[in-house]
Amino acid sequence: MIVCLCHRVSDRDIQRAVSSGTQCFEVLQDETRVASSCGCCYDCARDVFDAAVAAPCTGHCCKSVSRMAATATA
Ligand code: FES
Repeated sequence: MIVCLCHRVSDRDIQRAVSSGTQCFEVLQDETRVASSCGCCYDCARDVFDAAVAAPCTGHCCKSVSRMAATATA
């Protein structure tokens, strides 16, 4: 579903960003430009973002964090 018509940002784009580590809505806006023009999509974008952040971890983000931690200590 397209959430932001101005910038063609979908719910999957938002979920993908969260899965990749975006945990702040303002960062999401910087990355995708969602809700940064007319603002009509703000509430929906926020709801999709909040649900994605609250969703249980499927494991791949934890693997990314583990990999980053291992790299940082090496
Ligand atoms: S619909 Fe998202 S900023 Fe306009």
